[in-house]
Amino acid sequence: HQQEQQLHVRKQKEIKSGDLGDDEDGSGGGGGLEGTDPEENNSVHLKRRVGLVSGVALIVGTMIGSGIFVSPSGLLVRTGSIGISFLVWTACGLLSLCGALAYAELGTMNTSSGAEYAYFMDAFGAPPAFLFSWVSTLVLKPSQMAIISLSFAQYAVEAFAADCDPPEEVVKIVALLAIILILLVNCYSVNLATGVQNAFTAAKLIAILVVIAGGSYKLIQGNTQHLKGAFDTMDGGTVNIGRLATAFYTGLWAYDGWNNLNYVTEEIKNPSKNLPRSIMIGIPLVTLCYALINISYLAVMSPSEMIESEAVAVTFGNRILGVMAWLMPLSVAISTFGSANGTLFAAGRLCFAASREGHLLDCLSYVHVRRFTPAPGLIFHSLVAGAMVLSGNIDSLIDFFSFTAWIFYGGAMLALLVMRRTRPNHPRPYKCPLIIPVLVLGISAYLIVAPIIDKPQIEYLYAAGFILAGMLVYLPFVKYGYVPKFMVASFILFTEGVNAFLQMLLEVAPTAAAFD
Ligand code: ARG
Repeated sequence: HQQEQQLHVRKQKEIKSGDLGDDEDGSGGGGGLEGTDPEENNSVHLKRRVGLVSGVALIVGTMIGSGIFVSPSGLLVRTGSIGISFLVWTACGLLSLCGALAYAELGTMNTSSGAEYAYFMDAFGAPPAFLFSWVSTLVLKPSQMAIISLSFAQYAVEAFAADCDPPEEVVKIVALLAIILILLVNCYSVNLATGVQNAFTAAKLIAILVVIAGGSYKLIQGNTQHLKGAFDTMDGGTVNIGRLATAFYTGLWAYDGWNNLNYVTEEIKNPSKNLPRSIMIGIPLVTLCYALINISYLAVMSPSEMIESEAVAVTFGNRILGVMAWLMPLSVAISTFGSANGTLFAAGRLCFAASREGHLLDCLSYVHVRRFTPAPGLIFHSLVAGAMVLSGNIDSLIDFFSFTAWIFYGGAMLALLVMRRTRPNHPRPYKCPLIIPVLVLGISAYLIVAPIIDKPQIEYLYAAGFILAGMLVYLPFVKYGYVPKFMVASFILFTEGVNAFLQMLLEVAPTAAAFD
């Protein structure tokens, strides 16, 4: 494997000196890769531009998307009573916090970008890391992006289409336009992307404050009747242990994104301090907001009205904001747009980190020579996400997504435990209590197994099949580099050609490998 890595780095160097050596403004290429800290020379690499505020915004702004504005109904259906649904909301927050604390240890131990990818590489070696990058770049990240852009489009269009359901084609086109806009922002500059993230995070926090203020006002007026008898089961509702897991999926989707900052560690200023801090500020903040919002909803509508509503926040707005009711769909649109921006930001880095090690196409690891954005990775993700927008629907995407995602979150906990054994003396600027990864590992095992036992769905089989298919690609193509002889020459010519073409077209260049 090491030989493979060296070969890869050498190849990158050749491409670099060959194609970019005569780069006119001299800002790209030419920097030595060997033995020097990339921070100290002017080689092409991602710059550290994410501070504490942007770090918190990348977490909070990605976590708060569409979930809290729409999922409360789904959670209520799946738990059968407001008491249990409230417990599930809080438990999801605690679980995310525990998961993120474990990720803080992992992310400060290994500060290269790519989150799970980097940790699997350290703990289990290349094959699991490859499987992760395979599933993530082709399915997980693009499906997140597709779900959020579709929710964005739904609310953005609804703000204009007064009383009727907006036509599906329009929603899909708006979702695609949003993806393109976010892509342009992210390719243009890292500062612009984090600026957008910060502004949208602030905007959505204000929207949440409006909801909480409205709810509190109603509660003070004495509208507490829906909060009574919280644990009485509603009509037709039953909870069993498998159904509870799917309720968790719904809740956890609203919290998903808690690991978002770990994908961009290479760009955080002083990561060993700012990564754990952003996590400890961001996730409790989100949990608090979600708990208060849930109470506010119940101050204004009954549980059964909540279940009937397609978007609780919008119903909420119609009830108490009067002429300002349009503010709610607009806020949801803003919230989802920001979340999509944070998602693409992270996805680009994941693609970048995995391709840099030769696990995906080389050209996906290139970085723009002047803007320092991983443009090809971002473009690739947007293309896959665009295809999913055209073909998919939100609900099926969410269940499928959570199942697969929790396999990997659990895997990261295992990676932490394994490394406590195999690298006991490795510096750990932040060390989380051992019980945390053990707990999260147990819960993720439950989250993976329970829904299958409860109600086996074909989606779960697809997910498992897709992961296994990754292995079939890995062994011949990545590990042994086997390509049928007659294809070798044309393949090399083709990829080198594409790489060179992309380098010129997008003004991008390779960077140094992290795992030499
Ligand atoms: N929690 C967000 C929402 O409620 C979705 C976040 C998507 N996940 C991610 N890692 N970007 O819409």
